[in-house]
Amino acid sequence: MLEIRNLTVKIAEEDKTIIDRFSLTVKDGEVAAIMGPNGSGKSTLSYAIAGKEDYEIVEGEVLLDGENILEMEPNERAAKGLFLAFQYPIEIPGVATMTFLKAAMNAQRKARGEAEFSTPDFMRTVRAAADKLQVPMDMLKRGLNVGFSGGEKKRMEILQMALLQPSFAILDETDSGLDIDALRIVSDGVNALRAETRGFLVITHYQRLLDHIRPDTVHVMAKGRIVRTGGPDLALELEKHGYKDFLGEAA
Ligand SMILES: Nc1ncnc2c1ncn2[C@@H]1O[C@H](COP(=O)(O)OP(=O)(O)O)[C@@H](O)[C@H]1O
Ligand SMILES: [Mg+2]
Repeated sequence: MLEIRNLTVKIAEEDKTIIDRFSLTVKDGEVAAIMGPNGSGKSTLSYAIAGKEDYEIVEGEVLLDGENILEMEPNERAAKGLFLAFQYPIEIPGVATMTFLKAAMNAQRKARGEAEFSTPDFMRTVRAAADKLQVPMDMLKRGLNVGFSGGEKKRMEILQMALLQPSFAILDETDSGLDIDALRIVSDGVNALRAETRGFLVITHYQRLLDHIRPDTVHVMAKGRIVRTGGPDLALELEKHGYKDFLGEAA
């Protein structure tokens, strides 16, 4: 379970509040969607939860299964089971994707007190997961995300998620840059991971992703806050009327 309590976040460099007394609880097994106009703070929220530097936590807490993760290093948060699929996945030249995946998986296994993967076991696991997401094996030999198309990067994020089996996953605009076939592959990948023991926070600007990943709850974010909460129908309403009705409420 993820509990965000009264979280206020500033950009460290500037004296600018981006997340403003934000509270949200996502239970195990729940898929919560956050929708909101550009610039409402959706990515900042996910970065602050994942522990990216450059953000100053002014107040509030984020509890993952009851533990405040804001006091942990980003790698400790990941070891605890938090996963963030980035809106803009970073390219790491010189690190083969396969090597990266193996290091990430073994770090997590170690944190869970499990033995490291043998190479054949690792290969088998990656191959099966990559097949499902239609990620060709030769892509995994290239530098992480280097020269990948927008859609390939997003599929790679979901592959990482499938391999790491997080206890809580945040997907930041995973639909952007995907054509309709890739959207279906990615959504199927997410849906396959839905489980009673796993929560999701799905951030999206458009409703179409939520046709494929049906959320339990929908939250509208504007100016760093949740301004409306509802069920899946709220997403449809937004698609019809846009965000303009909500922008005034956050002032
Ligand atoms: N590193 C930064 N420096 C200055 N302003 C930033 C930085 N990152 C984000 N912002 C600002 O914070 C606001 C929220 O951005 P963001 O979290 O990316 O919104 P969203 O993901 O909802 O589009 C925007 O006004 C954006 O310009
Ligand atoms: Mg964003």
